[in-house]
Amino acid sequence: MEQIRLDKAISVLGEHSRRDVKKLVSQGQITVNGRVARGAEEKIDPERDEVRICGRKVSLTPHVYLMLNKPQGVVSATRDPSEKTVVDLVPRELYRRDIFPAGRLDKDTTGFVLLTNDGALAHRILSPKNHIPKTYIAVLDRPVDQKAVELFAAGMDLGDGEICRPALLAEEPSWEVQPAARIVLREGLYHQIKRMFAKTDRKVLALRRIAMGGVALDPELAPGCCRELTAEERELLTRETADYSTCTRGLE
Ligand code: URA
Repeated sequence: MEQIRLDKAISVLGEHSRRDVKKLVSQGQITVNGRVARGAEEKIDPERDEVRICGRKVSLTPHVYLMLNKPQGVVSATRDPSEKTVVDLVPRELYRRDIFPAGRLDKDTTGFVLLTNDGALAHRILSPKNHIPKTYIAVLDRPVDQKAVELFAAGMDLGDGEICRPALLAEEPSWEVQPAARIVLREGLYHQIKRMFAKTDRKVLALRRIAMGGVALDPELAPGCCRELTAEERELLTRETADYSTCTRGLE
């Protein structure tokens, strides 16, 4: 990435003005790759150089792409007067003023939420024209059968004027809680999976998103935690057409 001034790179994050940066540099409070910064005008590479302010590592890339393992009870919004939001879970060093969730999960749904401040990527992910497949595991009150699989595959009529795109449904016999099913959707209608199962006389007891496009939720990521996407994961998500086969692997 192009080299930019240290004060500019830090001030765009919104927490420190250029004047603050100058002061912190003169106090020796900012380090670049382990040594004290030479000046506020020092040029750095935001992608490669490690910058710390008062010992705290800061991410300086203009866009952030975070994988959050959403816990239950948190709303998919940027702010809310009474509820904890997915943005509230972002640690300080990864936070950006303009971060938002690219797509919503219900308050009681857990799993993969992508948080970013890259509006173009979010648009690509969410655009009805371009929707990437999203994979979920649902724990149900009774197992799926062939009829339910066919109803999901046919493009279900939700009965209120909304017709779903064909969706993939399969048993998930290895999930820790049974009976469970895997669902792959290419859209995100309101309470879609719960409503689709209701149409087959089933109740969703728990719902978890485990992948977006070809990017799987990191099994090492504890509920409530997030991490930056790797370069490879980012590339996968930005591809014009996500690779459907990676999401449906194991279902054939
Ligand atoms: N479908 C639902 O019913 N809820 C979600 O959170 C996501 C998909």
